[in-house]
Amino acid sequence: MAGAGAYDLAGPMARKTGEAATGIRRLLSAEGPPPALAAPLVAAVRALDPAGRRYPGSPELARSRLRPGDRLVLVELHPSDHADLDLEARYAGCEGVEVRREDGLRLLARSLPPPGRRALVLIDPAYELEREETVLVAALGRALARQPSAVYLLWYPVLERARTEAFLAALAEAGLGRALRVELGRLPDGAARGLTASGMVIANAPRGLDRWFARELPILAAVLGAEGACRVERLPGRPAPRRPRSPVPALVSGAQR
Ligand SMILES: C[S@@+](CC[C@H](N)C(=O)[O-])C[C@H]1O[C@@H](n2cnc3c(N)ncnc32)[C@H](O)[C@@H]1O
Repeated sequence: MAGAGAYDLAGPMARKTGEAATGIRRLLSAEGPPPALAAPLVAAVRALDPAGRRYPGSPELARSRLRPGDRLVLVELHPSDHADLDLEARYAGCEGVEVRREDGLRLLARSLPPPGRRALVLIDPAYELEREETVLVAALGRALARQPSAVYLLWYPVLERARTEAFLAALAEAGLGRALRVELGRLPDGAARGLTASGMVIANAPRGLDRWFARELPILAAVLGAEGACRVERLPGRPAPRRPRSPVPALVSGAQR
């Protein structure tokens, strides 16, 4: 779910949502070193554009961390209809990077396990479709059956708390193994229409990550002026279908490696 690769923070879409003002702009203008959780992002933004106008999406963040021999597959369902979505042009000739225009949720299980068997999968759809959560639970279930040892990162928005909790309960039932949920609340639940919080489910989270998030997330929330709750919790649920002995890869952002 590659999106555009990088974004123009002064462009019409960014101006329409205004999200940068309470996010990356605060981090860039905060005094002192950035919070540890955001430091790699702040460094990547400055590396892409010292003026802070261009913003790297997950494809750009993942590409910047590729090591020799790593492979990054960027999957985007929608064809490029404007320059900002021109992933092919952006990554043409980039060693180890492959762009695919297709349904990433259908492709996922078919691509697992990759050669070398180590994989990090980022799934961050826009949650605009009616049955999106059901489709995601099924896709993750199929992927886990193919490769229970991969690290899966699934982003989720909180628009309506009860719906989010039902979704996470269904995910836990899919057998995520050792899984965490990490959530940052911009606003208290129910305080507004629209997005009040967003989070990440991390299946096969590296050991110790929960303690690190529990320590660092409130620091990030304070710098962002977030008024909602921070959550770092183990997700209850069934163990992953089976777990061959294979090392968990280092955490990087990206679609798959
Ligand atoms: C929230 S954006 C992703 C942003 C991107 N990961 C980034 O960090 O910039 C969601 C993207 O997922 C794409 N998408 C949604 N469902 C998809 C699917 N089933 N397969 C591939 N791409 C999908 C949308 O077209 C959209 O570009």
